[in-house]
Amino acid sequence: MRAFLEGLPKAELHLHIEGSLEPELMFELAERNRVRLPYASVEEARAAYDFSDLQSFLDLYYRGMSVLRSAEDFHDLAMDYFRRAHAEGVVHVEMHFDPQAHLARGVDLEVVMEGLSLARRQAERELGMSTALIMAFLRDRPAEEAMRVLECAAPYWEMLDAVGLDSAERGNPPEKFVEVFQRARLLGLPRVAHAGEEGPPEYIRQALDRLGVCRIDHGVRCLEDPALVARLREEGVVLTVCPLSNVRLRVVERMADHPLPQLLEAGLRVTLNSDDPAYFGGGMLDNYLACFEAFGWSEEIFVQLAGTAIEAAFVSDERRLALHRQLAASA
Ligand code: ADE
Ligand code: ZN
Repeated sequence: MRAFLEGLPKAELHLHIEGSLEPELMFELAERNRVRLPYASVEEARAAYDFSDLQSFLDLYYRGMSVLRSAEDFHDLAMDYFRRAHAEGVVHVEMHFDPQAHLARGVDLEVVMEGLSLARRQAERELGMSTALIMAFLRDRPAEEAMRVLECAAPYWEMLDAVGLDSAERGNPPEKFVEVFQRARLLGLPRVAHAGEEGPPEYIRQALDRLGVCRIDHGVRCLEDPALVARLREEGVVLTVCPLSNVRLRVVERMADHPLPQLLEAGLRVTLNSDDPAYFGGGMLDNYLACFEAFGWSEEIFVQLAGTAIEAAFVSDERRLALHRQLAASA
């Protein structure tokens, strides 16, 4: 099964590029930029990645990204991830990035965009990988700030495949960002949002109704609301589920308790993703393997999940067809 899952052409729809920063690169960049880290070694950093909830992770996640200063750093971060993902059979990556977290440290959007754009072109050229870019707003910051960032991003609107909504979910409902997402809609930008990770099913409804999102990131708590589940099924809404993330952030206690089988049983369209692979103990292949170990799924189910990711990806019709053909050839 490992060889099969490795060979499966996997599309990743839910990844925070800053969450792909492995401790090894974190130390290298800390030295490059003379940034002090709160860890004495790579091992100590990894040992600190023991989370009790989303917020306890976010604290280390924002601290970790303090080593990212120049366009070269962002390029190296993304290429480091693309190479690892490519080696695991990932053929398409959609990456969220958090401009506000960088602006707050004095790193301009221009720097982030230059580095990520360079890496995207290189991944396409050298690895044959396609990528998409999702500019995420931090929901625990004011909506006015998100709106300013969206306007400041004018030179880059063409380079964005979507806007997203992430960071601390509880107490920060999607409706807080209605105007920002309305503006994104007018700009012709597709929208996604994290909802129903730690937050209630109501946040999933709000993301759909008030923000007009085309996909829900996580969404696992929808199961608490049968009417919502029926709606998600009828509308074919895709959930970008991140099983290892959910275990590490204690959304569920262990893989065996993960609601993925119930989501599939309910007829929902789900995909498997890594979220923040450097912090949650594994990339795409590890997430696929963890599902095999926990649920004993057949090859057909993994082909279905990989197919759903291709269907829901922000790619051209031509690229989607090529990915579907690659999947059919591997299965
Ligand atoms: N930012 C990075 N990872 C996240 C997650 N799992 N949930 C919300 N915001 C995030
Ligand atoms: Zn996420």
